[in-house]
Amino acid sequence: MTNKLVMATNNANKLREAREILSPLGIEVLSQREAGADCDPDENGSTFAENAIIKAKAVFEAVGLPTIADDSGLCVDALGGRPGVHSARYAPKGGECDKLLGEMKDVPDDKRGAAFRCTVCFMDASGHSEFTGSCEGAIGYEKRGSNGFGYDPVFMVGDRTMAELSADEKNSISHRGAALRELYRFLKERNGDI
Ligand code: IMP
Repeated sequence: MTNKLVMATNNANKLREAREILSPLGIEVLSQREAGADCDPDENGSTFAENAIIKAKAVFEAVGLPTIADDSGLCVDALGGRPGVHSARYAPKGGECDKLLGEMKDVPDDKRGAAFRCTVCFMDASGHSEFTGSCEGAIGYEKRGSNGFGYDPVFMVGDRTMAELSADEKNSISHRGAALRELYRFLKERNGDI
């Protein structure tokens, strides 16, 4: 029975959200540091799935415990899907929203569609499986809200930004929430009650 997972990440926000989503389902999430791994592998894959597998493999090989890794990003229609897998490296940390607003300043309302996408890789001794989730929205015209992280202040879902939603509201519609709930269904089917 897998009720304890290690999360292959150094991103405190991803870890917090994974805990918010999985702990009510009875799954405890340990950080890679808590599990004794100090990994920061080169994320040189060209898809979210490839990068999620790279991260999960590095930590699973270090700790030998069932491991999950999340690779995610923002795909903007008007930018041909950018920044996509490069979302973490699109701008200096904290500058991503301003840079995106700049690139989008002349884009009209009906062309501002975007989606957050996430692939979660689960890896254990028997192999690995991937789970995906996405959240459709649009890029706003200014930063709003102080919850969440990354691009949340400029990502509109209805008339609020993701950063104006509560943690529960975000997790119930987010790409990460969707992918992690898929993972939960897989584990439950494979292992019986978690
Ligand atoms: P990576 O998966 O470590 O390559 O990084 C994903 C990057 O995508 C993060 O650093 C954020 O910039 C962005 N991102 C992923 N998920 C979210 C989210 O839920 N909200 C806002 N930005 C996100």
